[in-house]
Amino acid sequence: AMPQAPDCPQTLDEARAAALQCRRCGLCEAATQTVWGEGPADAPLMIVGEQPGDHEDLAGRPFVGPAGRLLRQVMAEAGLDPGRAWLTNAVKHFKFAPRGKRRLHRNPDATEIRHCRWWLGLELALVRPRVTLALGASAALALTGDDSPLAGRRGRVETGLHGGPVLPSWHPAYVLRLPDPDQAAQARAQLAADLAAALRLA
Ligand code: URA
Repeated sequence: AMPQAPDCPQTLDEARAAALQCRRCGLCEAATQTVWGEGPADAPLMIVGEQPGDHEDLAGRPFVGPAGRLLRQVMAEAGLDPGRAWLTNAVKHFKFAPRGKRRLHRNPDATEIRHCRWWLGLELALVRPRVTLALGASAALALTGDDSPLAGRRGRVETGLHGGPVLPSWHPAYVLRLPDPDQAAQARAQLAADLAAALRLA
């Protein structure tokens, strides 16, 4: 094995403790807290979203808001016990613009995604999932380095920067935002199909 710097986290607990102190980019200034991943240390499947939303920022847990509710519904329909997957995000602080009392989600940029990739890389190295489901373009970029649009990619296995298989799919928040009910139903079915495909690979 490669010798590692003494301060490089060796376990998920050490990595989480270090991530809670992260100041690698400016997003830590306004966010409430780092939202680290959660799940079993030996999860065969990793599911990566974009970044914590308003609810996740306050709770300190991934996928506990509306998008998380949809994701957990689709997981339940696929027969996936949430305890069998490692749930995390490409970016671990909430990025937002204040609007009165509300905090409006803003997409992380490529630089923020690159800074936060240090943590995602640690999660991948320590959990070592058999397959990773990338929800949305930010997760797909973080995992593969490819920023091309999701429409031509979803549902097909790609090779991640870490060397493992990555399956890009729609982000559940995107499904929830689609104004046309038929389009939304189709995208939801595609997300469910991609999750089922990832489970077969796990
Ligand atoms: N959206 C994400 O990408 N991740 C979360 O944890 C919640 C919403």
